[in-house]
Amino acid sequence: MAPTSWNGLNCQNKNCMLFKKSIPTLIAEAAESGEGTLKRTLSSSGLVALGVGAIIGAGLFSLTGITAAENAGPAVTLSFIVAAVGCAFAGLCYAEFAAMIPVAGSAYTYSYATMGEFVAWIIGWDLVLEYALGAATVASSWSQYFNQFLLEFGIHIPHNFLHGPWEGGVVNLPAIFIVCLLSLLLMRGTQESSLVNNILVVVKVAVVLIFIALGWSFIDPLNHQPFIPVNEGEELVKSGQLGFFEFFKSDYFGHFGISGIMRGAGVVFFAFIGFDAVSTAAQEAKNPQKGMPIGIIGSLLVCTVLYVLFSYVLTGLENYKLFAGDAKPVATAFAKTGYTFLNTALIIAILTGYTSVILVMLLGQSRVFYTMSKDGLLPRFFSDLSKRQTPWKTNIIFMIFVSIFTGFVPVSDLGHMVSIGTLFAFTLVCIGVMVLRKVNPEAPRPFRTPLVPLIPILGIIVCIAMMASLPIESWERLAIWMALGIVIYFLYGKRHSKIRAEVEAGKSQGPTV
Ligand code: ALA
Repeated sequence: MAPTSWNGLNCQNKNCMLFKKSIPTLIAEAAESGEGTLKRTLSSSGLVALGVGAIIGAGLFSLTGITAAENAGPAVTLSFIVAAVGCAFAGLCYAEFAAMIPVAGSAYTYSYATMGEFVAWIIGWDLVLEYALGAATVASSWSQYFNQFLLEFGIHIPHNFLHGPWEGGVVNLPAIFIVCLLSLLLMRGTQESSLVNNILVVVKVAVVLIFIALGWSFIDPLNHQPFIPVNEGEELVKSGQLGFFEFFKSDYFGHFGISGIMRGAGVVFFAFIGFDAVSTAAQEAKNPQKGMPIGIIGSLLVCTVLYVLFSYVLTGLENYKLFAGDAKPVATAFAKTGYTFLNTALIIAILTGYTSVILVMLLGQSRVFYTMSKDGLLPRFFSDLSKRQTPWKTNIIFMIFVSIFTGFVPVSDLGHMVSIGTLFAFTLVCIGVMVLRKVNPEAPRPFRTPLVPLIPILGIIVCIAMMASLPIESWERLAIWMALGIVIYFLYGKRHSKIRAEVEAGKSQGPTV
């Protein structure tokens, strides 16, 4: 077979894993699948609303309290800032790609165009952690607030059916219920319109603002003392009694002090996940060139300000230690104010907010597997469409997969997995920007990430630092998940790749971006 030049990289034979899709091909394929007919209706502010809608959820309403109790104390506020900075670097890289390749598929598609099939597979497989396990995590927290809601009416769900076996229960039934309900809705073709999404965003943001405004005057300054609780291990390192590497491996690491803020950032990073959902709407943006950067960076900015104020009030209302193991800290802290009559409204609004995040995540998951299946990297049934034009088989498979996780695995373990998986994807997107600048410096870029390679490199450093601060078990699980993915790629994806087949058949040229 003749050597095939594919986007500037030579693929000498069919074993090459660098086959890439050209950007014109990607856009043409999106048009073929009907996605090209999507209307460009989203303005920049609509995109910011979309981002905020996908972002605010369990990370804020559940993880803030747990992170304060276990990692950072009141300095969880600083953890939010560190996480936001990391997201901003990655967000600028996403913005370059989203404006340049305005088709659905997000990070998976970008890497297929820049780093080739194998890396694209890795990202697509990794995105299961972000979307499927993300939905599982949020559903798990949903059930705690749902229980709180039922309690207002005197209905009590037994502990055994609210928690999985690792949390002293049997199964988290409400979490399974919401996952199944939303999966069924997705199969029926239910879609959030921009209007519905905007309403949900208004409700969510209103809850956060009301909490901040009403809670502010009830802050007890003593609860913020010390703002950064002491980490004894860090003290031992400072006095030379403990080496840094021993400290890093010890139980001291990540429990308060500076390392606690960093580990806290890795955990609350979950609260920012979703801004990449803006990039999947690139085809529906009126002006992706302007709208993508504004949508991505704007939603991050709005959320950062809200998160910092929210966590400051939360840890001011109640001592951070009391949030240990509490999956509904907002209800706990709000009890400190005199406005308990607002409790039910607050809980309903939080449940609504969670519901939209779960829906978007399940939708995103099916979209990624649909695209991978279309490319031949996954079996065809993942892209089989029902009469209602939904990938219903994918929906059913993920309904079962997500239900198992949400029903039985503790929420904090799930959250860590989602964070590490997403940080890994962000790292690859940052690398992708640098690769494409090198391989295709001339390609039209409606938006350019500023200060390349500095910004992508900083993005990589912050993302890896946040990953490094997550518990070692998350790394082990990530490694196992990726190893499984690599095996499947070699057993199935590589053999069925459509691009590979086209190149072998000599049908494809070596297009350049
Ligand atoms: N950012 C989303 C949440 O916090 C995933 O629920």
